[in-house]
Amino acid sequence: MLLLSILSAFTVVTISIANPTQVVQKSEPNICTIVVCGPAQSGLPGRDGRDGKEGPKGEKGNPGLQGLKGSQGPPGKMGPAGPEGAKGSQGEKGSKGDVGGRGLQGVPGLKGDRGAGGPAGPKGDKGLSGEKGAKGEIGLPGTAGQQGLPGNPGSPGPKGDKGPVGEKGGKGDKGDRGLQGATGSQGPTGRTGSSGPKGDKGSQGEKGTKGDSGLSEINLLKTQVRTLERKLDTLQNSFSKYKKVIMFPNGRIVGEKVFMTNGYESNFENLKQRCSQAGGQLASPRNSAENAAIQQIVAMHNKAAFLGINDIQTERQFQYLNGQAITYSNWLPGEPNNDKGIEDCVEVFAHGKWNDKSCKETRLIICEF
Ligand code: GAL
Ligand code: CA
Repeated sequence: MLLLSILSAFTVVTISIANPTQVVQKSEPNICTIVVCGPAQSGLPGRDGRDGKEGPKGEKGNPGLQGLKGSQGPPGKMGPAGPEGAKGSQGEKGSKGDVGGRGLQGVPGLKGDRGAGGPAGPKGDKGLSGEKGAKGEIGLPGTAGQQGLPGNPGSPGPKGDKGPVGEKGGKGDKGDRGLQGATGSQGPTGRTGSSGPKGDKGSQGEKGTKGDSGLSEINLLKTQVRTLERKLDTLQNSFSKYKKVIMFPNGRIVGEKVFMTNGYESNFENLKQRCSQAGGQLASPRNSAENAAIQQIVAMHNKAAFLGINDIQTERQFQYLNGQAITYSNWLPGEPNNDKGIEDCVEVFAHGKWNDKSCKETRLIICEF
């Protein structure tokens, strides 16, 4: 920086070479008194500047003192952008993606095949169709899906100078859904199907082998019959004997009918009731054989017995206890005479003959079964 000082009559102007636009003016009212304005040999000093010639040019003055160091200038404009930095190193591999969702459950297994038909049966109608096959069992769950794909690589690091290793990449995307599981195993057994329709009549079976003559079976049966006959004879003999024991001395058997007394004596109504309570009825002889059996019992007890015959309902119309008119009788001569009009019952004597007698009399009981 060069500083020029220009002296004038009244003013010193200081000009900065470094900054020509800046002019500093100062008022120096006393400096003109110490300055010689021209050489002495060139004439007298004029009274004023208007009379003198212009003096020779003075010697070149000594260089002035070095000016003060200027203040620091303002910062220059920002330089152009540097070249693009090298690409940062690749980020770390992303973490493993989540496991894919479980595969769909396998579809139930197919229904089992129908069982093979049984062997051909003997001749006859064709068998009914087999029942519907049981439903298959529930299939096993499908296998786990495939592992998810690895995550995407991390995003590149920031631009700039080759800086530090880029940040760790973000977590990888969720893996794709696993593959569908394998088909499940056969499902559970299904419910029993309804019976099928009756099958068609089967074809005629093969002719059977010739049977046995049957003689052996007949002989066997004959042997069994003989054995049973012997046992039956034994039983009959035993039964016959025990009947005699039971009938002695108060009972008699005539064909299918049994007459029995226990020695009880009373009027007609009581005797009739006792026999009925025992499951029988008062003896009612339908023929001479039965009457003879009753006679023997009466003789045994030496007591006349009342029969199950009377004409209570209608005089002279004797009937059995069931109301049926009698079909057999064995009256004494002159009987029945309904003596005194009060004889509606029938008594039998030891000789077997009958007489009508009052029902209020007391006689021996003889029941028939
Ligand atoms: C009576 C009897 C009658 C009649 C008569 C005959 O004792 O009650 O029914 O038989 O004898 O003389
Ligand atoms: Ca009588």
